[in-house]
Formats: sequence, structure tokens, C-alpha cells
Amino acid sequence: MFSRSVSAARSGLLSRGFASSARANRKVAVLGAAGGIGQPMSLLLKQDPLVTGLSLYDIRGAPGVAADISHVNTHSDVKGYEAADAASALKGAELVIIPAGVPRKPGMTRDDLFNTNASIVRDLAVACAEHCPKAMICIISNPVNSTVPIWAEVYKQKGVFDEKRLFGVTTLDVVRASRFLGEIKNTDPKDVKVTVVGGHSGVTIVPLLSQTAQGKDVKGQQYKDLVKRIQFGGDEVVQAKAGTGSATLSMGYAGARFANSLIRAMNGESGVVEPTFVKSPLYKDQGVEYFASNVELGPEGVTKIHPVGSVSAEEEELIKACLPELKKNIEKGKAFVKA
Ligand code: NAD
Ligand code: LMR
Repeated sequence: MFSRSVSAARSGLLSRGFASSARANRKVAVLGAAGGIGQPMSLLLKQDPLVTGLSLYDIRGAPGVAADISHVNTHSDVKGYEAADAASALKGAELVIIPAGVPRKPGMTRDDLFNTNASIVRDLAVACAEHCPKAMICIISNPVNSTVPIWAEVYKQKGVFDEKRLFGVTTLDVVRASRFLGEIKNTDPKDVKVTVVGGHSGVTIVPLLSQTAQGKDVKGQQYKDLVKRIQFGGDEVVQAKAGTGSATLSMGYAGARFANSLIRAMNGESGVVEPTFVKSPLYKDQGVEYFASNVELGPEGVTKIHPVGSVSAEEEELIKACLPELKKNIEKGKAFVKA
């Protein structure tokens, strides 16, 4: 799906001629680039013809990663920056992807990462507010349900918040849902599109299988097992890695896919829809300010937030279980910055 999108985007750009190619100068910064996600994701971004510059930043190790990736013979420039060099890393960045922070170990929830990752994300938000306030921001660092509100609150304090340009990356949930359902149905996952809404942790991850041709007839225990696997797919990897980290390679793939979609939309391609955790009106009346759903992307970021659509009775229950937990996670993030 990813490579097909790239070539479609390429031909779209070529057909729009000079003005579009001038617009297509896209510098992407990766914060946490030397980590488990940062390295493979940066490699995939180096292979994306829509990315014209890569700025790799980490508290340590990014110049080495950049030197290595820069030898791949695609046209983009790659530069690495460490620690105090954040200003240079962020200058001119139009899209910033953030996988900085610690990953889970077995037995931990994503919320257990809050104490360490909240301040990492807050400090990176301060740096971006100062050096690239207009960039599209894609947050991978967990707990996403809280780190996205943290980013928003910092930007509000700095007077640069634009809700259309802030995204929590939930693409991995959709990638997993498509893969797991494809396995059950013995179908190529590229043809299996599952909408996943809510947030990015346990019960806040809500797959809408009833809206999918291949998913609507999955019933009974098989349905329960599939929902559980999608909601707790991250734990499967954490356990298999036995204390050495969480999903990195599949996340690198998902992060690069999200970036590619966003750049295609920024370059003027219409109809680009990705699931993502954004400031959303969908459940605002229930006190839930941020919510992941299918979002249409455009040159300025969020163009249209798609409604959840019709759901089954089971899915209604899943949403009911999601909302209070999500609300708690969002409030925790907001309170952290306000304190
Ligand atoms: P990792 O420990 O391998 O890498 C994290 C990197 O961040 C390290 O290189 C570290 O030096 C760097 N870092 C720490 N503080 C930094 C700072 N202030 N500025 C710049 N870089 C900094 O971890 P990982 O496996 O790559 O995971 C990173 C985060 O992504 C974790 O919080 C994890 O839970 C999360 N994650 C999210 C998803 C998702 O779907 N959104 C999926 C997988 C992992
Ligand atoms: C995932 O879904 O794989 C990530 O959020 C990492 C984790 O902690 O499970």
C-alpha cells in the first residue's frame, strides 16, 4: 500500500508541473532518531521520494545513524544532530515525527511511561514551538493519549497552537487490525481496511470490524479474540521482546506510512484519509477532547474529521468502555503542563 501510494503521489506531482515540484520540498525531522523506532523509520523515510531532507535528532547517537543512512543512494539530504543542537535540527522542518522516550517492559501499561516521557515530550514541544512552530507534528511517544494533549498545552502557552497540525500516530493499530483480520480470512491484508477509533492503549483502541467487508461476519469467540488481539497487540510484542523494548520495526513502517500520507496531502493530493488521534468534536460533549478516527488530510493538516459511522451493539459497548479511560488520560496530560 505504501509503495503504491508513493508512486501515485509521484505521478501526481509530475503532472502538476513546476509549481507543485517547488512546493514538494519537504524537510522531515525525526526526534529520537537513534532509537528502536527512529532508526528503521528514518531508513524508510530515506526511501520515500517525497522526503527531500531528513534531520535526525537524538540526545545521543544521531550523527552516526545519519552518516549511515546518508549513504543510501536516494536524493534526500540527511543530517544528524545531538543534544544541544535541537535548534539546527528543527530549523526549516515542515514535518516533525517524535518517537523520543522510553518503551514498555513486560507488566507495564503505557500510562506507566508517563512519568518519564511526559517531560521529554514537553521539552521537545518547547523546542518545536520556538524553532518550527508551523511544522506538522506527529507524536509516537507513549502514552499517546496523554502526550498529544501535553504538546497542545505547551503550544497554547507559547501562543502557536494550531489543532489542524497536531497528530497522534495510531497507524500501527490499523496496520495490526488489517493484518490480523487478513490472517483469519486468509486474504491479502492490503485489501483489508479496518477503521480503528478511540485512543492508543488497551480498551481505548476500538476496532470497527462491522464496517469492514471481511470483518462483519466475524462473530462469537473469534470476534472477542480478534478485538482483544488488536487492542493488546502492543503487549504481544512487549512480551516477546522480554524486557528489551516494544514494537519498533512495525512502528517504523507505520510511522513512515503516516508521514508519506501527510506529505502527499501537503503536496496537494486530495482524498488522503488516515486514522489519527487529533483534537476532535466527535465526543466533546462527553468531555473527550481528543479522539482517533479517520481524518482527511490536506495542505494545512486536518481537513475533515470523519464521523464514527454506524456501529454494532458490541462496538457501542467498546466505545462506552473507551471514553472514560481516554478522558482520564487526556486530563492527566493537560494537568501535567498546567502544573
Ligand atoms: P528507544 O528507547 O529504543 O528509543 C527512544 C529514543 O529516544 C532513544 O534513542 C533516546 O536516546 C531518545 N530520546 C530520549 N529522550 C530524548 C530527547 N529529549 N530528545 C531526543 N531524543 C530523546 O524506544 P523506542 O522503542 O524507539 O520507542 C520510543 C517511544 O515510542 C516509546 O515511548 C514507545 O512506547 C513509543 N511507541 C509508540 C507506538 C505507537 O503506536 N504510537 C508504537 C511503538 C512504540
Ligand atoms: C504499540 O502499540 O506497540 C506501542 O504503543 C508500544 C507498546 O508499548 O505497546
